[in-house]
Amino acid sequence: MERLQKVIASNGYTSRRKAEELIKTGKVKVNGILVQELGTKVNEKDTIEIEGKLLEKNEQKVYYLLNKPRGVISSVCDDKNRKTVVSLINTNVRIYPIGRLDYDTTGLLLLTNDGELANQLMHPKNEVEKRYIAKIVGNLTPSEFYSLKQGIMIEKRKVIPTYLKVRKTEENAQIIEIGLIEGRNHIVKKIFESLNHPVDKLKRESYAFLTLGNLKSGEYRELSLKEVKKLYSLK
Ligand code: URA
Repeated sequence: MERLQKVIASNGYTSRRKAEELIKTGKVKVNGILVQELGTKVNEKDTIEIEGKLLEKNEQKVYYLLNKPRGVISSVCDDKNRKTVVSLINTNVRIYPIGRLDYDTTGLLLLTNDGELANQLMHPKNEVEKRYIAKIVGNLTPSEFYSLKQGIMIEKRKVIPTYLKVRKTEENAQIIEIGLIEGRNHIVKKIFESLNHPVDKLKRESYAFLTLGNLKSGEYRELSLKEVKKLYSLK
């Protein structure tokens, strides 16, 4: 928590003294509420409005790699009050996931407050490879495997896996590793559903060059500067 006038000044809006003037003269709102007390303290998540304009914060960028558990929603908040991926990360910074994993999908998810990187990574032109491990119902026949490898139409657009391998075959199930560039919602489930082999379990194992490493379900780590730079350099 920091003093309101300090936050206004440190974000380059004006000097501390002028910030105090703005507060005293009723020009500043915090979370939509007028604040005229100079001692008021705010945190990273509070929105500050000065003369009707939102204060842009030049806050430090943060980057997390989470091993998302099952039963957690990939968003910042949820109207049904389900647990969110953001709530698993201990930070005061407003972060959000880069892309999403389904409620029942586990595995690698990136979270950040860096909109530029998020946009770059999610832009269809720059989509990066993601690898998934899918447990499907039944076994792919050789011809199903071959046609999937060649690419199949999903909702009028062809998807060609960048990688496809059967990891394990069981009596009425198969573990498949599949790599995809694109990021349409539920894409892995749609692919296998279209072949009449619904996905029973799904985990994302990698995102570009990033892997889960030793992170257990629900654990996370910060990305290193080197990793962030490498993500920026992906085109
Ligand atoms: N494809 C899916 O079907 N679900 C996910 O969560 C991610 C990719």
